[in-house]
Amino acid sequence: MQAAPGPFSIGGIPVTTPLTLAPMAGQTNYAFRALARELGGCGLVCTELISSQAIHYKSQKTYAMFDWVEDESPFAVQLFGADPDVMAEAARVVADAGADIIDINMGCWVPKVAKQGAGAAMLKEIGDVCTATAVVEAVIRAVNVPVTVKVRAGWDANNLTAVPFAKAAEQSGVQAIAVHGRTAEQGFTGKANWDIIRQVKDAVKIPVIGNGDVDTPEDAARMFAETGCDGVMIGRAALGAPWVFAQMWHYLTTGEHLPAPTAAERAAIALRHARMTIERGLMSETVYVRELRGQITKYHLGIPGSAKLRDRLVRAETLAQIEAALLPVIAGEPIIAA
Ligand SMILES: Cc1cc2nc3c(=O)[nH]c(=O)nc-3n(C[C@H](O)[C@H](O)[C@H](O)COP(=O)(O)O)c2cc1C
Repeated sequence: MQAAPGPFSIGGIPVTTPLTLAPMAGQTNYAFRALARELGGCGLVCTELISSQAIHYKSQKTYAMFDWVEDESPFAVQLFGADPDVMAEAARVVADAGADIIDINMGCWVPKVAKQGAGAAMLKEIGDVCTATAVVEAVIRAVNVPVTVKVRAGWDANNLTAVPFAKAAEQSGVQAIAVHGRTAEQGFTGKANWDIIRQVKDAVKIPVIGNGDVDTPEDAARMFAETGCDGVMIGRAALGAPWVFAQMWHYLTTGEHLPAPTAAERAAIALRHARMTIERGLMSETVYVRELRGQITKYHLGIPGSAKLRDRLVRAETLAQIEAALLPVIAGEPIIAA
C-alpha cells in the first residue's frame, strides 16, 4: 500500500485531510457540509455556486445561501460571474461574511451560467488579457483571503486548456486549483480524464485538487497515485453518503474498509440532515422540505426494501412527516415496514 497522502495548505489555511467536498448546487448547504466534516475525513468543504450578480442586486434568495458558520472552518464559498468588478464586489461581501477561501467557478457549463461568459465559458480564451485573468486578478485584489479556482479539463476535446489555464491562474496569485477531468462539452457523460489532472500537477507549484469519478476508497487511492494531486475532491459519491470521506480516509491510512452504515445509522444521519437544514435555514420549512426530498431520499439507495421509505420521503411536506418516516427506521424497525 502507498503511504497515505498528507495534509496541505491553501494560502496558509491548513487542509488537514486531503479529501474535499465538491461544490454542488442544491446539495452542499450548511447541514450537508457540517455532516461531512463531523463524520470525519473531510478536510475542506465548499458552498454551492453563488451568483455574483445576485449578490450585487442583493437578492434575498441568494443571501439565504449565506448559511455558513465559523465552526465549519476551513470552508470555501464559490462565486461565479464574468464581470471583474461585480466579482470583486461579491468577493468582498462573502469575505466580510466570514468566507475562509473564495473559489471561482470556471467549470459550470449550464447555459444560464456559460451564456453570460461565466463558469466554463472562461476556459475558451486564455492569455494575459482575457476574462478569466481579469476576474481572478480583480477578486485577488479585492480580498485578503486565499482565492482558488475550479476548472474543467477544457471547453471541449479540441480545447483542453486546463494546463495553460492553471499556469496563468498561478501567475495571477491563485492559491490552489481544482480540476474536474471532463470537458464542459461532456457535461457528466463519459469518464473524467485523470491524465489532465496529472499534467496540471506537473505544471504548477500550487496545490492541485483532482476531481471526477472518485466513488470508492480505492478510486481515491488511485487518483492520488496516478496524478500526484495534493487533494481529491468528491461530489456525487457523497450525496446521501456524507460518511464517504471517513470511509476513504480510513482506507487511505490503514488499507482497511470501514463497515457500511446500517439502515438505522443512515436514517439517523438523514434526519439530522433534515433537522439541521430547517433549523439553520433562512427560508420557510416548506421551501427546505422540497429541497430535502431530493437529498434525504438518497440515503438508503441500494438498501433492500427501501423503496417504500423513499416514497414516503419524496411526498413529505413538513419536517414532522420526514421524522415520522425516519424515526421507526432509527428505532430498528425493519426498513420494509417504514
Ligand atoms: C448536483 C450537482 C451540482 C453541482 N454543482 C456545482 C457547483 O455549484 N459548482 C461547481 O463548481 N461544480 C458543481 N458540480 C460539479 C461537481 O463539483 C464535480 O465537479 C462533479 O460532480 C464531478 O465530481 P464527482 O465525479 O465526484 O461527482 C455539481 C455536480 C452535481 C452532481
